[in-house]
Amino acid sequence: MTTLSKPLLNAFRKVGTQRPPFWFMRQAGRYLPEYREVRAQSSGFLDMCYSPDKASEVTLQPIRRFGMDGAIIFSDILVIPHALGVEVRFEEKIGPQLAPVASQAQLDGLEWRPEKLAPVYEALRRTRAVLPAQTALIGFAGAPWTLACYAVQGKSDKEFQSVRAIALKDKPFFARLLALFADCVAQHAVAQVKAGADIIQLFDSWSGVLSEAEFEEWVVAPTAAIVAEIRAACPGVPIVGFPRQAGTKYKNYAARTGVDGVNIDASVSLEWARRELQDGCVVQGNLDPLLLAEDREGALAQAKKIISVLADKPFVFNLGHGILPHTPVENVQALCDFLKSGA
Ligand code: CP3
Repeated sequence: MTTLSKPLLNAFRKVGTQRPPFWFMRQAGRYLPEYREVRAQSSGFLDMCYSPDKASEVTLQPIRRFGMDGAIIFSDILVIPHALGVEVRFEEKIGPQLAPVASQAQLDGLEWRPEKLAPVYEALRRTRAVLPAQTALIGFAGAPWTLACYAVQGKSDKEFQSVRAIALKDKPFFARLLALFADCVAQHAVAQVKAGADIIQLFDSWSGVLSEAEFEEWVVAPTAAIVAEIRAACPGVPIVGFPRQAGTKYKNYAARTGVDGVNIDASVSLEWARRELQDGCVVQGNLDPLLLAEDREGALAQAKKIISVLADKPFVFNLGHGILPHTPVENVQALCDFLKSGA
């Protein structure tokens, strides 16, 4: 079957679709009982990420249940620092904990071992082999700024002032750290495409804490370098950027990084996105995951509104951030039924 038979790819080729294609960030995750079952049988989150059978199984779970147009490979953005030798742990209810890389000496101690990521590529190959032909397979990576947030600070506090402080005080170190991440991310993305990914999404979850000048330096520039590298190796593969909470800076991001699409978060005005973003690139988004978790009817009404403003231009329906673990499965089902009904 040709790639044109995948509705999600059609959106990027500006081919009209009967209904907007859709998938959801964190569509594989704890809100699904079948995910929790596999998770309970694993010795840890990273064990799941590096077990091709388990990673492929949980990637497929939401597709079997809901039939989204895209399957995002189950993995994590922190496999990149992990493959650089950084100690990474996921603690229940706390989140990721990393051994900090906050100085040149610590950076010098890192060693890139891409072979540690081989199970991710194997999971992609196994998933591709059994995925319905019309379902696009999405590979992903964290963008350098967000990876640096976790690597420098060792954990999240949603502000990352200590990371911004190091970027200001020791710019040569910080620039080298981001350049290293950019290189690894590009390699990881290209390897995912070679293993079967049809699309790459770059997550810059913490780009919203930056000033305009910082955003330019630590988000736009490294992302542009990654996009150029992926493009050179994998022409035609759509790249979607997600500089979460970038506000009006989404416009510059879309124009300057060379991405094919941007995932907008729920704070972005639909009319603004239509006017300022959608002529240049595909817009993906932006239903509020909290609305989906708390208010099914409200979520369906908002989904309808998003589609009424954005769906006649290049558009992929998604959320503004990942599905929350306490989201009722019935709410996700109702949203998928609505989207598949022709919305
Ligand atoms: O979207 C998907 O279904 C694919 C899988 C995926 C995961 N993480 C699985 C995961 C993707 C695309 C990610 C990206 C990711 N990971 C981001 C960027 C997107 C975002 O959410 O902003 C970030 C910042 C991370 C780092 C990370 N991994 C955090 C902060 C956490 C803990 C948060 C939490 O919800 O507990 C993780 C763990 C994680 N990654 C889980 C899942 C399903 C939950 C772990 C579990 O099952 O115990």
